[in-house]
Amino acid sequence: MTAHITFFNNRGGVGKTSLVYHSAFMFAEKGFRVLAVDLDPQSSLSSMALDESRLEALWLDDEHALTMYGAVAPLFNGTGDVCPVHIEPLGDLLGLLVGNPALSPIEEALSTGWPRCLDGCERTFRVTTAFWRVIHEAAKRYQADVVLLDVGPNLGAINRSAFVASSHVLMPVAPDLLSLQGLKNLGPMLRKWRSAWAAALPYAPGTLGEMPLGDMSPLGYVLMQQVERFGNSARAYTKWQTQLPIAYRTSVSGEEAAESNDHQIHRLKHYRSLMPMAMEARKPMFSLTNADGAIGAYQTNVQQCHDDFSALVTAIAARTGLQKST
Ligand SMILES: Nc1ncnc2c1ncn2[C@@H]1O[C@H](COP(=O)(O)OP(=O)(O)OP(=O)(O)O)[C@@H](O)[C@H]1O
Ligand SMILES: [Mg+2]
Repeated sequence: MTAHITFFNNRGGVGKTSLVYHSAFMFAEKGFRVLAVDLDPQSSLSSMALDESRLEALWLDDEHALTMYGAVAPLFNGTGDVCPVHIEPLGDLLGLLVGNPALSPIEEALSTGWPRCLDGCERTFRVTTAFWRVIHEAAKRYQADVVLLDVGPNLGAINRSAFVASSHVLMPVAPDLLSLQGLKNLGPMLRKWRSAWAAALPYAPGTLGEMPLGDMSPLGYVLMQQVERFGNSARAYTKWQTQLPIAYRTSVSGEEAAESNDHQIHRLKHYRSLMPMAMEARKPMFSLTNADGAIGAYQTNVQQCHDDFSALVTAIAARTGLQKST
């Protein structure tokens, strides 16, 4: 079964999109077949991966046919059901389901439908599982081993649908108060949505065929280092580093409070000098070459970054039991 992993924290700007982008390329480099999915109406992942002229071409017409919005639009417009989505190639083993700012207005339709799932209303199930059905079909067509979903920093209805479509949820966190609060919000919300979906599933109309299981299983957190934000205050950094694992255990996995790093998947460095270069070259930081301006000490940094992301995706693969299909 393909793992569908949503990267989420309702603290904005923690590095979710960058993490999805780099993990997707690293998984592909390791030989996994990968689909990256942009479900954030801000479309940052698509903007990171594609140059402006390509985005313009994809977003130009009002139908937005080649994006995630285009794939669900017939359902939300009342003219039909979801349709197969275009897979934008980013590499031999990596494809992108392109995001779109036009996704925003469907938030309301998703929101009003949710409570009606328990009535077994067919349309409600169609709407709630719209993203999953599009992603599931694309993943089969692409023979994806892993699907990575990027979403906006909120607990709104689009994200609830993304969670229903997810086997796992990975939380990027920064060592700060907002991330701590993010963990405390997410745990109860995940439990609520998981049990609501489990209660609704038996009422799903058989005519719709396979439905998502909505496991939303918490995979752990990735600590985004961002040390420089704390200046000389190593004490502040240490304080959050101590509190985050406790908040994760108590709020997200519902365990006893304890100072254990069991749920920390990886601690990722902040590559302040490489990121602008990578954005300019439109490639991952760990793939930068001399020709991109990564010369001298930068090359050492690129290698460190490569090792860092390699360790991260190895840990994700181990925790999800991910296997390469080929
Ligand atoms: N490991 C990293 N090294 C250097 N810079 C990083 C790293 N991760 C993220 N950044 C930078 O941090 C900023 C925020 O990152 P990003 O857009 O990925 O966050 P986000 O959590 O997706 O934001 P939002 O909540 O708005 O969706 C960006 O400028 C990005 O380039
Ligand atoms: Mg983002």
